Amino acid sequence: MIDADSTSGGDTSAARKQIVVGVTGASGSILAHRLTRFLLDTGHIVHLVASRTGRLVAHDEMEIAEGSRSLFPDLESERLVEWQEKNFFAPFASGTADIDGMALVPCSMSTLACIANGISDNLIRRAAEVMLKERRPLVVVPRETPLNEIHLRNLSTIARLGAVVIPPMLTFYQHPGDSVMAQVDFVVSRVLDHLDVDNELFNRWGS
Ligand SMILES: Cc1cc2nc3c(=O)[nH]c(=O)nc-3n(C[C@H](O)[C@H](O)[C@H](O)COP(=O)(O)O)c2cc1C
Repeated sequence: MIDADSTSGGDTSAARKQIVVGVTGASGSILAHRLTRFLLDTGHIVHLVASRTGRLVAHDEMEIAEGSRSLFPDLESERLVEWQEKNFFAPFASGTADIDGMALVPCSMSTLACIANGISDNLIRRAAEVMLKERRPLVVVPRETPLNEIHLRNLSTIARLGAVVIPPMLTFYQHPGDSVMAQVDFVVSRVLDHLDVDNELFNRWGS
């Protein structure tokens, strides 16, 4: 499915990672779009999977034409592989696959609850379960406000299991002005940091 020779662009192949990006039906799909675009632009391989509601919310928020087959039609790359929500035959449904990490962005409270309780009834939840059992990076960007005690308990559970929880918090010390994209880049940058992907999407403190 992926022609490795055509994707390295020279010396980047050694550092090229395979990252799963899971998109669920919470608000904030622009974060997943920005993350996917950055990973593709920097030579990485992205396995993209959206839940049914994730696809609907993303298309609504990003004003993508109804009925579009791909989640993000403007992102085209031989290194972008899109999977269906119920396709448990995807390689990353197994711990034996060569996957470097997963970002779950945005993560709904429903998917969070399933992961915290070991319910793997779709490919996103199964992939997250695999990351946790294999002790590989799982970065979760939960999106809900305010949070009730069930949400907090579930976040605490997955954090204890090894997931890194990165709520999409606003940055101010970066002086973003009124730029929403600066806020998006800040959150995406923190996600990339925890996937061990080099990036300079924001000015690091002290640099
Ligand atoms: C427009 C829209 C926005 C939503 N935003 C959120 C949200 O920010 N957080 C959340 O937990 N659920 C949100 N939901 C509800 C979830 O989509 C719903 O709980 C769904 O079952 C999640 O399924 P999934 O986790 O399989 O994608 C939203 C639903 C819609 C239609």
